[in-house]
Amino acid sequence: MKHERVLVLDFGGQYNQLIARRVREQGVYCDLLPFDMSIEKIKEYAPIGIIFTGGPNSVYEAGAPDVPAEIFSLGIPVLGICYGCQLIAHKLGGKVTHADTREYGKSEIEYKASALFDGVTKNNICWMSHTDYVSEVPAGFAVSATTKTCPAAAFENAERKIYGIQFHTEVHHTLEGEKILRNFLYGVCKAKGDWTMANFVDEQVSALKNKLAGKKVLCAMSGGVDSAVAATLVHRAAGDNLTCVFVDHGLLRKGEAEEVVSVFRDKLGMNLIKADARELFLSKLKGVSEPEKKRKIIGEEFIKVFEKEAKKIGAVDFLVQGTIYPDVIESGKGASAVIKSHHNVGGLPSVVDFKEIVEPLRDLFKDEVRKVGTELGLPDSVVQRQPFPGPGLAIRIMGEVTEEKLQTLRDADYIMREEIAKAGLDREIWQYFAVITSTNTVGVMGDARTYEPVIALRAVTSVDAMTADWARIPYDVLERISSRIINEVPHANRIVYDITSKPPATIEWE
Ligand code: XMP
Repeated sequence: MKHERVLVLDFGGQYNQLIARRVREQGVYCDLLPFDMSIEKIKEYAPIGIIFTGGPNSVYEAGAPDVPAEIFSLGIPVLGICYGCQLIAHKLGGKVTHADTREYGKSEIEYKASALFDGVTKNNICWMSHTDYVSEVPAGFAVSATTKTCPAAAFENAERKIYGIQFHTEVHHTLEGEKILRNFLYGVCKAKGDWTMANFVDEQVSALKNKLAGKKVLCAMSGGVDSAVAATLVHRAAGDNLTCVFVDHGLLRKGEAEEVVSVFRDKLGMNLIKADARELFLSKLKGVSEPEKKRKIIGEEFIKVFEKEAKKIGAVDFLVQGTIYPDVIESGKGASAVIKSHHNVGGLPSVVDFKEIVEPLRDLFKDEVRKVGTELGLPDSVVQRQPFPGPGLAIRIMGEVTEEKLQTLRDADYIMREEIAKAGLDREIWQYFAVITSTNTVGVMGDARTYEPVIALRAVTSVDAMTADWARIPYDVLERISSRIINEVPHANRIVYDITSKPPATIEWE
């Protein structure tokens, strides 16, 4: 089925994926595509509306991202946000001025009568992040909102359905931002709202049934949300023709490996092969303390174990990958410095004998993947699972990985997860976990001296893991976690809390 869709043109701003997610949350499908899409391609795409995102440039810079002027004559509504609004002003004869200082943060705004601000409180708060601003709107345009610093915080030509806003509706700090976006989609673009995850599941399952009928399908199950949802979706269509291979490297958190088997094999009846490689991984990691080396060994061994299992199955027609939309967007961008060599299932295609890759989630954002998982009946423990790195607990144990440290970490981490959930903080904190450091300190227990590694607690808030802030967990919750770990976990004598943001730190310790 062809959905109505909105085209979000990407000018490189930091909130761009967020804009696309917010559109989808309103029940309207959209794609985030590079700004330099040709006018022919735009016409072919046939959007019901176009959104220009923000971006780091100034419209007057040589080589600044631009769009063909014809885009404004297609009769398709346009909403420009931040750089996008400056571009509209610049292209249509208005004036953009460079301010002396950057405006960043909450700002008081006054909305005037406009289809965009229908039902929105007149005196309000918006989120600004810009240096340039629109100082004169183009002829035929009216100012529809003002702030102290922006004489044209919003402007429009309602007849031509062209709207510009300097502030960021997609950020929650803009109060009623969702309503503004909804007004654009439903009021201006006349969207019907045909994008729901229930529809998505029905459409995908019937498309996959056609594609996979009578074919052999293989999937690597990691325990993570994406591979779990992809496998379950494919299983609905392919049934027993799907085989999932789960490599238990022994570096998962407490209870996770057991859960994979109980949910996917026992409850959903999937053909699941569990490769028990716990000893193999431990032996390969023996004596290794350098983080990059650990990562490399785990990545390579994972592929080898998977290859061995895949060989037993023989040639397959399809290999399932849990690729999601942000991976698709990111892979189109240039290379950046390697901070950590990420291990995921990306290396598998080279070792499996298959004809085609199937990526049923490649159009979905993470929050949509979770909703699909829920639609498919997966439990919250799987669907709401926090991000977890491929190398697992090995990069949360500083220095050499041993069974004893793994045991200590699993128990400490489990207590932290339990207490965070009990305090109702599990949905608002992006990731929370324990780390075993390589520093031993002296403690006293009973009357005896102890000398054990310090355990650190890490909890961060984030939108996309690119940047993160340390979570302000209430002291009493921290206190409960700390005292339970000390009392219940052998080899624990000192707990510290990591209060660094990313950057300069990273989320994981290695
Ligand atoms: P850092 O530590 O770089 O982590 O701030 C950013 C996010 O990525 C996760 N992470 C990984 N995910 N394979 C993965 O699939 C990896 O090797 C890996 N290393 C880090 C990390 O948990 C955080 O969510």
